[in-house]
Amino acid sequence: MAAGVVERVVTGDVIKEIEVSGPGFLNITITDKAIIETLALAKKAKANPRELAAGVVERVVTGDVIKEIEVSGPGFLNITITDKAIIETLAQRATDATGRLGVPFADNPGTTVIDYAQPNVAKEMHVGHLRSAVIGDSVAQILEFVGETLVRRHHIGDWGTQFGMLIQYLIEHPHELDHKEGEVSGEEAMSNLDRLYKASRALFDSDEQFKTRARRRVVDLQAGDPETLALWQKFVDESKIYFFSVFDKLDMEIQDPDIVGESGYNDMLDETCRLLEESGVAVRSEGALCVFFDDIKGPDGNPVPLIVKKSDGGYGYAATDLSAIRDRVFNLKANSLLYVVDARQSLHFKMVFETARRAGWLNGDTKAVQLAFGTVLGKDGKPFKTREGETVRLVDLLDEAIERASAVVREKAQDLSEMEIAERGAQVGIGAVKYADLSTSANRDYKFDLDQMVSLNGDTSVYLQYAYARIQSILRKAGTTEPVAHPELELTDAERALGLHIDRFAETVAEAAAEYAPHKLTAYLYQLASLYTSFYDKCPVLKADTPAQVENRLFLCDITARTLHQGMALLGIRTPERL
Ligand code: ARG
Repeated sequence: MAAGVVERVVTGDVIKEIEVSGPGFLNITITDKAIIETLALAKKAKANPRELAAGVVERVVTGDVIKEIEVSGPGFLNITITDKAIIETLAQRATDATGRLGVPFADNPGTTVIDYAQPNVAKEMHVGHLRSAVIGDSVAQILEFVGETLVRRHHIGDWGTQFGMLIQYLIEHPHELDHKEGEVSGEEAMSNLDRLYKASRALFDSDEQFKTRARRRVVDLQAGDPETLALWQKFVDESKIYFFSVFDKLDMEIQDPDIVGESGYNDMLDETCRLLEESGVAVRSEGALCVFFDDIKGPDGNPVPLIVKKSDGGYGYAATDLSAIRDRVFNLKANSLLYVVDARQSLHFKMVFETARRAGWLNGDTKAVQLAFGTVLGKDGKPFKTREGETVRLVDLLDEAIERASAVVREKAQDLSEMEIAERGAQVGIGAVKYADLSTSANRDYKFDLDQMVSLNGDTSVYLQYAYARIQSILRKAGTTEPVAHPELELTDAERALGLHIDRFAETVAEAAAEYAPHKLTAYLYQLASLYTSFYDKCPVLKADTPAQVENRLFLCDITARTLHQGMALLGIRTPERL
């Protein structure tokens, strides 16, 4: 039981202090007086510790908050909270004007820069980008909810040698990306880019002279030649049309100013290298600027360095990430750097973080964490591919999820119009995809199984959404908007279990925030919906025995719904009022 109840325990002759010491645990400090007195008693009676505990228990004053207290093994006391305390605590939450349902702000909030949703320019988004976006969005919202200042950074891949090829092709085939702004859909934008990419690649591979021109174009780009940069910008803009259409489909708000891709750190790269070389953190090796690590070796036993600057003078992924760290620590004043990136990039981040530590950019005041996520697998347990062995396009996947969900909604819908079915279908389908992604701990691989995801039974978002919609329908029928709690009533076991679980919302959110673990929240919400279901099965609401009981049960329904709604919102999932 959490803070709310603790506040209300009467301390006195026996209990000196009582505090929450973790989910489900209370720490009780017995007064010295009680100990000495009990010890004296115990000594006199030659009692063992168990009897001693029993002695303490006997002397705890039960009453408004504690109904019963008993020894439940050596060193453990079992405390039963009164029904009254449960309902009163929840009533306090419900009337909390901040609407936070009792969730306190974290003790020492700081600034977190979260790096997530980082697709690559001129390339399709795939399921890996989906995971980063979904997990990142949820973690950001959870952290923000507990008071952390969040800076979002979408580190898109918008720089590199492939742009030489693309730009050169566009120069030689002008008008390929011509269209009036806003006229093109995300899908069209991507297919334009894809066409250009394939055509330029084919030319690059077959035509030596084009290859030379493309390479020269890279030099122009890096030198900041205005014409070249303008064309590069065209590719970035076209890609953004596509990205935003996908984020939109994902029902996710991404702000343009937060898109600071690899190119955003170009001005810092030289200095980053200079600082690393001057401090001796990086050394020249075969013409390249490298950082070495004792424990990182290749299969041949030779050390594998982090290459900060290539022997041809080019900068890579590492130089950009190291510069981004400097920006995030020194300009954005971050206390925590969080990277929601595929586990397959773990070695890169390990080396980058260690380099930044050696350079003194990261120290005790600033932590850097890769929130590494696992691979999305197909139903067969192998990395997710189409039948033709190609990477699955994210958009196709989302469309299929929406289609399946719409079928489920349609089947259950009694009074929904076609437009409503389409809207709910999207909310249920996208919710299903997000929930499946969030409900296993991020570092594990997970199977992308649409049948399971949109199933009405089991640990799915649809199950939670239906629980929510069912409650709303009861509340509509009752015609109450703010049902009144009745702490004077005796509760059934199902009501007690539900009430106690609702009370755990605050500590669950705190835990999910501290551990960057949205799956703790999904597990909590699933249990909440399950406990609600058994409450609903066992306890008639509108047909309860007395008007007071009807109200009290409506109150429990309402606060369950509000908790579901808030929890799902933190996961980025909608809770439709009707389903
Ligand atoms: N764009 C990269 C990819 O698609 C992910 C970027 C991750 N963030 C970073 N700061 N390196 O794999």
